[in-house]
Amino acid sequence: MLQPTAAPTFTTMSDAQFPADAHERSRTRWRAAPPNEGLTWGRRVSGDAFIEKAASYGAFGDQRTVLEIGPGYGRLLRGCQDQSQPFRRYVAVDISEKNVTYLAREFARNDVAVVHGDVETIELDDRFDTVISSLTLKHLYPSFLAALRNVRRYLNPGALVIFDLVEGSLSEFAPVDEVTFSRWYSREEVAELLKEVPLALVAFDAVEHAPDFRRLLVVARNPD
Ligand SMILES: C[S@@+](CC[C@H](N)C(=O)[O-])C[C@H]1O[C@@H](n2cnc3c(N)ncnc32)[C@H](O)[C@@H]1O
Repeated sequence: MLQPTAAPTFTTMSDAQFPADAHERSRTRWRAAPPNEGLTWGRRVSGDAFIEKAASYGAFGDQRTVLEIGPGYGRLLRGCQDQSQPFRRYVAVDISEKNVTYLAREFARNDVAVVHGDVETIELDDRFDTVISSLTLKHLYPSFLAALRNVRRYLNPGALVIFDLVEGSLSEFAPVDEVTFSRWYSREEVAELLKEVPLALVAFDAVEHAPDFRRLLVVARNPD
């Protein structure tokens, strides 16, 4: 039985706290995830709040190519559509085949592509001006560093990277299923990891997805 483990700090967290197969284990749930409310606290949640915040930082525009990491059932893309947020092209990457099949059907547009793969290793054909991701980077083991390093290879100079996290100190596999990894971050940890990517920190903000579901919003930029 895995015990939930509170990570003392970023600098002292050690892989030794977790089983040798922790990385593979952290993918188990998401590879099989269906596109339903199980991805968002057991109920459908609008993506409007996240999209409005992203738009306020200049994430959208008719010449911008957008990458979304972990679209789930497509609530951010739906938010873009409902708010008529412009983009030149929107590419959504998800590790779940079920999600990809569902999204490709739901958003059958010439300017939207849904790609199956792991964000840490996927190879992409586009160059991006904006990356958005909600409720996803907190599940990457042992951190979001490898994902952003991989994605950065495909970013245009000055590209925006906007994602949410839970603020705090925790690093655990959920005792209930032993495969859902979650990590919370302090702002200092986020700043250190962004430097390692490297991305420049633009701002810490907040996004309220629903009452009582407020998350730390991180806004970063690819150096010019
Ligand atoms: C908690 S859900 C959030 C879904 C959506 N972003 C939202 O806010 O409603 C996490 C999503 O990220 C996807 N995901 C998890 N790990 C991933 C990875 N390594 N690469 C690509 N997608 C991943 C999951 O399949 C799932 O769709």
